Amino acid sequence: MKNRRLGRNGPLVSAIGLGCMGMSEFYVADRDERESIATVHRALELGLNLLDTADAYGPHSNEELLGKALAGRREQAFLASKFGLLRDPQDPQRRGVSGRPEYVRQSIEGSLKRLNTDYLDLYYQHRIDPEVPIEETIGAMAELVQQGKVRYLGLSEVAPETLERAHRVHPISAVQSEYSLWTRDPEENGVLATCRQLGIAFVPYSPLGRGFLTGTLKSPEDFAADDYRRFSPRFQGDNFAKNLQLVSQVEQLAADKGVLASQLALAWVLAQGEDLLPIPGTKRRSYLEQNVAALDVQLSAAEIATLDAIFPPQAAAGERYAAESMAMLTR
Ligand SMILES: NC(=O)c1ccc[n+]([C@@H]2O[C@H](COP(=O)([O-])OP(=O)(O)OC[C@H]3O[C@@H](n4cnc5c(N)ncnc54)[C@H](OP(=O)(O)O)[C@@H]3O)[C@@H](O)[C@H]2O)c1
Repeated sequence: MKNRRLGRNGPLVSAIGLGCMGMSEFYVADRDERESIATVHRALELGLNLLDTADAYGPHSNEELLGKALAGRREQAFLASKFGLLRDPQDPQRRGVSGRPEYVRQSIEGSLKRLNTDYLDLYYQHRIDPEVPIEETIGAMAELVQQGKVRYLGLSEVAPETLERAHRVHPISAVQSEYSLWTRDPEENGVLATCRQLGIAFVPYSPLGRGFLTGTLKSPEDFAADDYRRFSPRFQGDNFAKNLQLVSQVEQLAADKGVLASQLALAWVLAQGEDLLPIPGTKRRSYLEQNVAALDVQLSAAEIATLDAIFPPQAAAGERYAAESMAMLTR
């Protein structure tokens, strides 16, 4: 397994991680706990140790599943979880936030219990709470480091100025934001540049465009009624059709090169810099193995330029989240 550093002076972790979210929620097709657990075990066997979950996934059941999968194997993993994105049991699409210090202290206890461990390697604030100064939230997270409950701190979908303020309170090791061929916001909003300036690792989530960039999704009607993607503008109606035209060009390029579209999409992310640690999500061993093999796909400058030309910033039709969730980004 190729390794990369979690930030300029951070520990070595696998260059590609495993997003575990879809094992419990959002991507409905073929969910199967046994295959999910086998996928986590196969990842560890391959030396892929960067595992990503959050208390909000399920909610809670994804951490429980990982807790089960990691029984007797905890030390092999570099385990990341998140707090601060609140779910509404009455409405799965609604989201709230909390960065209150007492909420941080309470959340870690729940995550440790469900994950069946006494420490997390990486703990992210999932979304910034505009009502609580970031210094207060990070102050509470830093106490968790002092208590040995957490090793490294991270933030997700944070704005550059907030990141700088946070980093002054306690070193931030990783920033996780959506980044892929069809979501190039971090290049444009200054987040990637700020991470580089401060020596912070950048962890692209949904690097396969929630499955779209693999070329295997052909119609929005194929999703189950409660699949998350039905609620994302990019996966709806005309937007889906327009985006499919772009992806078909990626598929063609992949076919010419003798690799999969998914591997091309991941190789493009990996080629953006040694400081990027993408975490493609899957609940199947077969996809996991294809995704790990993307580490061996070398792209020439000409191929990168072709991909950049297919998917320049803002090329995707439709926003990546519905309006309420869009408003919670980059704060
Ligand atoms: N911080 C945040 O706010 C945030 C938000 C979203 C996600 N995340 C994290 O990022 C992780 C990854 O993102 P994601 O899961 O949303 O999206 P993703 O990695 O872009 O795509 C996942 C989807 O692609 C499919 N897939 C994976 N590998 C494939 C392959 N080789 N061929 C064909 N299809 C393939 C998966 O199918 P199957 O499910 O059928 O395997 C799943 O439907 C999540 O698991 C989660 O841990 C974080």
